[in-house]
Amino acid sequence: MADIIDGKKISARVKEKIKAEVSALKDKNIEAGLAVVIVGDNPASRVYVNAKKKACAEVGINSYEYALPEDTTQQELLDLVNILNSDDKVDGILVQMPLPKHINENDIINSIIPNKDVDAFHPVNVGKIMIGDYSFLPCTPAGVMELIKSTGISIKGKDCVVIGRSNIVGKPMSMLLLHESGTVTICHSKTKDLKEKCKSADILVAAVGVANLITADMVKEGAVVIDVGMNRLADGKLCGDVDFENVSKVAGYITPVPGGVGPMTIAMLLENTLTSAKIKNIIK
Ligand code: GUN
Repeated sequence: MADIIDGKKISARVKEKIKAEVSALKDKNIEAGLAVVIVGDNPASRVYVNAKKKACAEVGINSYEYALPEDTTQQELLDLVNILNSDDKVDGILVQMPLPKHINENDIINSIIPNKDVDAFHPVNVGKIMIGDYSFLPCTPAGVMELIKSTGISIKGKDCVVIGRSNIVGKPMSMLLLHESGTVTICHSKTKDLKEKCKSADILVAAVGVANLITADMVKEGAVVIDVGMNRLADGKLCGDVDFENVSKVAGYITPVPGGVGPMTIAMLLENTLTSAKIKNIIK
């Protein structure tokens, strides 16, 4: 039976450390602030934004919400980002995705000043991650790295399989594993023999958004299995990309959904906001 990697517990430890650092900054009269922008009323986005604001409050980071109506124009959103780019109380800018269809997401991402891009979505930050010289790591992959490290298993030389090639998770995830000297295979919807490839993995990261795609026969005995999926079933229950019940009988370590990657993603967002405030104030 696999050990369960408790993302809630690990994220609570990370948040305690951030809280102490935020408090030490306050002693120097420095406050860290995150602007959270949401456009429209996508219910999932609302849940995420509320969770991010709550986490800011827990660690003492100021959060400023900008909730804009669905019919906001691209120019209006660009104007807001511009104001936030030069607002001194804002260290991080997070524009919750997805945006309404009439707004070009890349144009918005490109408009955020890279040193406030706490999602690490801007091409400058993506490029920095590629060459291994970064200030911010993208939140979900950074959280996954912390979860893998919590097992005590070294990534060096391990066969790592990432399923999913999104800009938010799959691609940066692969790069972070490569930086730690993993041998990385990226799989996606057109991959041949997905089962065989998954079965070769010492470390398997699933980030596709297909409920229960990864079944026990696809997993190597003792593997570390990280489930980034967050899928809502017809009965309203949340489930990941991994068939947790059966895969946990084969894997060595596994993350649950919920309570695995999700809480870590938010902890990493707080860390990036703190990092931005420290860089601005030239604090190591
Ligand atoms: N939508 C889903 N995940 C994310 C994320 O990590 N950041 C932003 N800005 N939007 C998202």
